[in-house]
Amino acid sequence: MALDRRIEAAMAQAVAQGQGGDAPARLAGALDYAVTPGGARIRPTILLSVALACGDDRPGLSDAAAVALELIHSASLVHDDLPCFDDADIRRGKPSVHRAYSEPLAVLTGDSLIVMAFEVLARAADNAPDRAVALIGALARRTGMPMGICAGQGWESEAVINLSAYHRAKTGALFIAATQMGALAAGQEAEPWEELGARIGEAFQVADDLRDALCSADELGKPVGQDALHARPNAVRELGVQGAMGRLKDILGGAIASIPSCPGEAMLAQMVNRYAERMMPGALSASPVRARA
Ligand code: IPE
Ligand code: IPE
Ligand code: MG
Ligand code: MG
Repeated sequence: MALDRRIEAAMAQAVAQGQGGDAPARLAGALDYAVTPGGARIRPTILLSVALACGDDRPGLSDAAAVALELIHSASLVHDDLPCFDDADIRRGKPSVHRAYSEPLAVLTGDSLIVMAFEVLARAADNAPDRAVALIGALARRTGMPMGICAGQGWESEAVINLSAYHRAKTGALFIAATQMGALAAGQEAEPWEELGARIGEAFQVADDLRDALCSADELGKPVGQDALHARPNAVRELGVQGAMGRLKDILGGAIASIPSCPGEAMLAQMVNRYAERMMPGALSASPVRARA
């Protein structure tokens, strides 16, 4: 099955579980609202691509890992948009969850999605419990403190921000989770996959900074100019637009060079190149990114 269909089917199944029984109707509706239609689904796509590159011998477990990761990401966006964080009215082209459902329901939606992520992994443990435990540990590590997205968001409340720790935790963490969980679901070691995830995450952050500075809210389906508005450190402020684009190309070249050897190595290099084309704003997108010599 195509990756996007695998992801959507498994997402729908997980959310339906959360809506069963005597669930309160508005919160049940908000769960679905927060995850569909999805955004780019880049994290679960990377996760499944790595799993496939490593043989994907337990596809049910890979699907559960992909869903768990996307649920955590979706929860982080629901919480991130709240007035106490970025106070954003739109997300993925429609009113953010607290605008559509209320602030209490947005807090509960984020909480429910986080818990659901771990429940999905626990349910998939049946025939590969060791792998499932490793997946739960890997996802928890990249979600909470001291190096997950909670840490990333936490840096925004510090008087002085450690920029690389901030980006690594806020954005990089879930990309590292994507590559490592893909490997773990297929029975491989996680450690060799950290660098690839970190580099894709770094590239994604630079691309996000470029989009925030260069694109319109209509194009992105969320508010733009947020980095300047909140006076956040970002790649465009540091390097300028051309400098940031050059940096993006360098990082992606490094990402390709860091792909661990595995049966699907060439396929993964193609995937990074495809993402490079999509991430790179404007004309620079035409030329493929090459690995460093
Ligand atoms: C947005 O992530 C949040 C950041 C880490 C910058 P995405 O751009 O992947 O969001 P969706 O899932 O596609 O909407
Ligand atoms: C959101 O980061 C990332 C997390 C919630 C971890 P941002 O606030 O920079 O991203 P957008 O612009 O709202 O998607
Ligand atoms: Mg934010
Ligand atoms: Mg935000």
